Amino acid sequence: MALWGGRFSQAADSRFKLFNDSLKFDYQLAEQDIMGSIAWAGALNSVGVLSDEEVKALETALLELRSEVQANPEQILESDAEDIHSWVEGKLIDKVGDLGKKLHTGRSRNDQVATDLKLWCKDYGDMVYEALVRLQQALVDLANRESETVLPGYTHLQRAQPITFGHWCLAYVEMFHRDIDRLKGATKRLDTCPLGSGALAGTAYPIDRDALAQSLGFSRPTFNSLDAVSDRDHVMELMSAASISMLHLSRMAEDLIFYNSGEANFIELSDQVTSGSSLMPQKKNPDALELIRGKTGRVYGSLAGMMMTVKALPLAYNKDMQEDKEGLFDAIDTWMMCLDMAALCLEGLKVNRDRTMEAAQQGYANATELADYLVARGVPFREAHHIVGEVVVAAIAKKQPLEDFALSELQGFSDKIEEDVYQHLTIDACLAKREVLGGTARVSVSEALGKAQQAKGPV
Ligand code: ARG
Repeated sequence: MALWGGRFSQAADSRFKLFNDSLKFDYQLAEQDIMGSIAWAGALNSVGVLSDEEVKALETALLELRSEVQANPEQILESDAEDIHSWVEGKLIDKVGDLGKKLHTGRSRNDQVATDLKLWCKDYGDMVYEALVRLQQALVDLANRESETVLPGYTHLQRAQPITFGHWCLAYVEMFHRDIDRLKGATKRLDTCPLGSGALAGTAYPIDRDALAQSLGFSRPTFNSLDAVSDRDHVMELMSAASISMLHLSRMAEDLIFYNSGEANFIELSDQVTSGSSLMPQKKNPDALELIRGKTGRVYGSLAGMMMTVKALPLAYNKDMQEDKEGLFDAIDTWMMCLDMAALCLEGLKVNRDRTMEAAQQGYANATELADYLVARGVPFREAHHIVGEVVVAAIAKKQPLEDFALSELQGFSDKIEEDVYQHLTIDACLAKREVLGGTARVSVSEALGKAQQAKGPV
């Protein structure tokens, strides 16, 4: 039975019903709707609309319904109810008869859906937080395993300076740390309870909204009923946090796809997260990482779609807002799935240390070191840069690294160069010099690792 039959003499066109009904996706709010309903029954009891026995009966029936939903959420989809709110109310009436019809007193689906969705955001915010922490842990573990491993660092996808693999891992730990912070900010701001705002003007029953908010685990009630029923900032904030985090995941995936390529051959991904080619037997494709990169697009799409949906809506509730859920559910599901998959990829990843070392030694990644060497011997940096540029051109012509030049050859470029130059050109020397806070020197990386291990705390 529709919730609003009295005013209508004609049934809804079946095509309209299909178009209008939201049960096919908002069934995911069943538990939140049930908990919101229990809290609302309590509020009605406190203002004398429901007796103690009535509240007890409603609560028992709603908790029973919750167990049924937990056991088999898909059963909801068999119903032809318009949305999850009418489904819960209908089921309640099935269980307790006319008493169930009292529950909607003073409540609107507008404050109800806003409350349900915020409860959902809180629950899922906690789950995403856990997934982010698990991924950080996988990165920290890999950083520990590969703290000594030399890796060529790139700018413009050209070998620039040597770094350690641990340093690369910790770069992403920083990014996911900021994602956690953004998630915390979003979940803190959405922690306000709309219930009691009614359709738009506030409920006509003198309920204690502070107590109601508290009973649902919110830190406080919302302060303006118009805003409360039409605010979807939390949906957009979570999607923004998801989008930025997906961007980090996508960049990490892209780095690893490149490291895994036959050309780089720096890492090998485990069989568990790769697939073969139906035609080419030699192939082992980085599908998990490519899907992470690919799915980033759909999360951005959900955010953009939601912003466009809300941008010109007049206050307060409009049915357009029903469009908030599918994109949000998909964005958060996708985000969590990608976080888990990224952790799985990192856990089984093997680094080809000889190959990363070899690559770091090629490509003149120590050219800056030679320039710095000259600077230390009184050559102005700009001039040193020019001299080393000439050395590099000569080395390229001879297809050899800088350190393979004989001292006499090097002295042909600058008479400031002496025998001790060679010790400055080793990879170890390049790394060790970058001892600055945030640098790639092994001591700095192990300090950063220590901090990363301590940094994790509750959301
Ligand atoms: N299914 C609706 C939604 O998701 C619930 C709120 C309906 N409110 C209304 N006044 N029709 O937004």
